[in-house]
This record gives sequence, C-alpha cells and structure tokens, in this order.
Amino acid sequence: MLLTDDAPHQGSHRPIGSPFLRDIVHGLSQHPKATPPIWFYDRRGSELFDAITNLPEYYPTRTETALLARHGPDFRAAIGTGRAVIEFGAGSARKTPHLLAAIEPAAYVPIDISGDYLAESSAALAQGFPGLPVLPLVADFMTPVALPPAVAALPKLGFFPGSTIGNMEPAAAVDLLRGMRGSLGDGSMLLIGMDRIKDRAILIPAYDDAQGVTAAFNLNLLQRVNRELDGDLPVDAFVHRAIWNDDAARIEMHLEAQRDIAFNINGMRFTMQAGETIHTESSHKYGSRDSRLLLRAGGWNPAREWTDEDGLFSLILAKG
Ligand code: AVI
Repeated sequence: MLLTDDAPHQGSHRPIGSPFLRDIVHGLSQHPKATPPIWFYDRRGSELFDAITNLPEYYPTRTETALLARHGPDFRAAIGTGRAVIEFGAGSARKTPHLLAAIEPAAYVPIDISGDYLAESSAALAQGFPGLPVLPLVADFMTPVALPPAVAALPKLGFFPGSTIGNMEPAAAVDLLRGMRGSLGDGSMLLIGMDRIKDRAILIPAYDDAQGVTAAFNLNLLQRVNRELDGDLPVDAFVHRAIWNDDAARIEMHLEAQRDIAFNINGMRFTMQAGETIHTESSHKYGSRDSRLLLRAGGWNPAREWTDEDGLFSLILAKG
C-alpha cells in the first residue's frame, strides 16, 4: 500500500519501492501494528530459525522428523513409488531424505523463493540420492507455480512439512491449498505437516525459550529494518512476547515497546506508546478435525493421519 497524505504517523518520505518496505510501512501504519512473518528470514533470521528447530522447547521439527523416519513403510503403501515429489519450501537435510528413501520418487522438485538456499539444499540432497532427478524451482509458492515440463506426465505428491501452513491466516491457507491442488493436477496427493492444539505449558516455551533464541529471531526483524530500510528503531526498547490466543487457536509473537518511542523508516516517522505491540507472527494450531476441515476447504480429501503418541504434531496425507 502506498501511503497517502492522511496515513497515520507519516512525515516526509521517499516513494515506497521494495515489497519489504511496502509491507513494513503498511504494517506499522495499522492499528494494531502487524507485519508479515515472511520478512523474518534474511540470512541471520534463517540461522536463528535453524537454531530454534534444535531447541529443547521447540517440539515441532523433531516430532515431525521422527514421524517421517518411523512411518516410511506406511508412506510407501499409501503413496506408492514413482511419483514426482514437489516440496513447497526447500527441503531440509533432516526431514526430506526420510520421505524420498521411503517412496522412491521419479523426480524431486524443491520450490523456494531463495535461490541461494535452494541451490545449497538441492545439491546436498542430490548427493544422497544418486540417479534421482532433482529439479529446483525458484518461485514464490504462495502464487500458482508452473512445474518443470520434465515432470508433466508424472503423478505428483505435494510435500508441505513444518506446519508452515500455520503461519497463514485460515483464509490464505485455504487459497494456498487450492493453488497447490491446481498446480499439482488431477490424481495428485499432498503430505502436509500440521501442528496441533495442545497445553499452553508446552506451547508458550516453544515460542519463548529459556535461551532467548526465539526472542532474538523476533527482534532481528527490527535490526533488519534498520539495516535495509534506513531505520532507526530503538531495538533495546522492545521485548519479545509470545501469547496464546485461544479464540483464534494460535500462538502470537509480538514485539512490545517498553517506553514511548518515535522512530523513522526510510524518512517516515512512526510513534509507539509504552505497552503497544507489533504483531509479527501467528502460528495457528489445528485439532485433528480442524485440519481435515481446512484441507477439504482447500480442495483436498484427507486420507491418512500420522501423529506421535503425545498428539503434538500430525502428518496428513490427502488426495486431490
Ligand atoms: C516456520 N514456522 C512454521 C515456525 C512456527 O513454528 O510457526 C516459525 C517460528 N516462529 C517462532 N518459532 C518458530
């Protein structure tokens, strides 16, 4: 959104060019302030996220990885071999190999918006699977993607692990699922990771860990704004907050101002009062029925669900 003359907190400013600047200015001009979580992931943010996935409190990654490692024979029986696996988000060396080893795909197409990361992770993966065509695709999977012609005739399995779908508002999640259904075509399947609703005694520490890694991940957004958008946000005036919003069934991350502050971004002036927050991320959690409803709304028919014995996390297989 371009700011108009009656936009809040506006001083003299230069034209808004990059999508990052546009999203941040738009987000900080709203009441309450809210910014999209995609901007967490610069190099430092990606490193911090990687560190989060290894934290004792952050159960999703290790639980999902264990499910992928444990249920290989089940995946093979339910999915079969010889499909093209299309992974939405570049595959991590920890998770994806378990699936590929189990279902022996005919091709693997990792899709990611970051070309650098995609090249690195694809090369690492290809090494472990000699003979498997690995066809990385640099694209924003939030919009419909054209798959490589080499996989056109193959039946597809979409793979969307990590509960990344939880970072979307439900309406956007439904749109994305529909887009995936369109891109993958008739006869396709989708294997998707979804984080479940659980006790807040488990949820809150997962997003507010003892070592402060999640806090650093959240605060890095402000440092990134200062670095890349000519900002002077007083980072030391903010603290990380993780709260459970029971009505919306989501963890919310916020950055809370500890005192009244004023700052500039690309020549635009903003103010915040003590106690005011920037809502930086929502991580929606889905009960078993909720996840099936979401998938159906997105044009998929849920067929199987695998979950750990504590019911923390689910992998769901759906048919198009
Ligand atoms: C990427 N995404 C699924 C993570 C989550 O759990 O919502 C991002 C994250 N934010 C804080 N910790 C992890």
